[in-house]
Amino acid sequence: MTNPGTHPDIATPFRRPRRLRTSATMRDFVAETHLDPAQFVLPVFIADGIDAPRDISAMPGVQQHTEDSLLRLAEDAVKAGVGSIDVFGVPTPEDKDATGSQAWAADGILNKGVAALRREFGDDLLVMADTCLDEFTDHGHCGVLTTDRFGKTVVDNDATLPLYAQMAVSQAEAGAHIVSPSGMMDGQIRVIREALDAAGFQDVSILAYSAKYAGAFYGPFREAVGSSLQGDRKTYQQDPRNARESLLEVELDIEEGADMVMVKPAMPHLDILREVADMSSVPVAAYQVSGEYSMISAAAQNGWIDREKAIMDSLYGIRRAGADIILTYWAVEAAGLLAR
Ligand code: PBG
Repeated sequence: MTNPGTHPDIATPFRRPRRLRTSATMRDFVAETHLDPAQFVLPVFIADGIDAPRDISAMPGVQQHTEDSLLRLAEDAVKAGVGSIDVFGVPTPEDKDATGSQAWAADGILNKGVAALRREFGDDLLVMADTCLDEFTDHGHCGVLTTDRFGKTVVDNDATLPLYAQMAVSQAEAGAHIVSPSGMMDGQIRVIREALDAAGFQDVSILAYSAKYAGAFYGPFREAVGSSLQGDRKTYQQDPRNARESLLEVELDIEEGADMVMVKPAMPHLDILREVADMSSVPVAAYQVSGEYSMISAAAQNGWIDREKAIMDSLYGIRRAGADIILTYWAVEAAGLLAR
């Protein structure tokens, strides 16, 4: 039998891409993609009515926090060099109502968390607030409900806008550096920018959840925030079958005053992230959402996947696809892995 390597008809390779993979030093030398914890955002949950942190079963390693435990976690984030913390509020069920009024209450759980973080860390950690009503409404939708002329219950876009404006201003008052409207109502960026400016908060920036897709990957988050939602968000979040509307959403948000835009979830929509990164004139963020976190965590717990390697592969993929800023529940852990 002829050895294929020496067969006269098979040419010896002349171009050898493997040369640049021969050692860790060589691989680092030619690496195109780098991660910096300064561009990580750690999403966190502060819950009302608890006196100790509470585990979230669908997100092993992530907890609902008290104000004290939130400050300790934030301290870890600062020490690890993480740039920003994104605060979600979990009110008690009794505090939820049809309009989500605890969302803009100065003593609402989210604003209390924002205020405590800003007081404690000043400008050393960018405090981002989730600007959306879903955690605070008793029906769990991101906007207020109304009945259309056929008797169908629908989310009322324009009636929701002033509530978002009020919520954003209350978050700025509490000390947020960044507000992050995630409710996918049309026109939300414009009303929020105008309200912030009118209240004297010209320096508070807006990270717009511009291309936010509906889908299964937010499942574990629903437990994390004790969501009251029945049904889905398909009348306001995007259809995963579509790409073009993401470009429209990003264009509109930039026109309306977004300082940064986001694609979410990250992993199922990396193609969208690339397209947005190519056309955006403002920094681009991607959110590695709860379902992405839980999938890797579950596989690792079963011994099916190497946890740390999978975390880093997923983050490099998101960065390579075009994200400047990455929201990830692994922000602190990944910062530690990068520092090794
Ligand atoms: C809405 C909001 C959601 C998430 C972030 N902001 C829930 C949703 O849209 O259903 C999900 C984040 C995650 O799954 O990690 N306020």
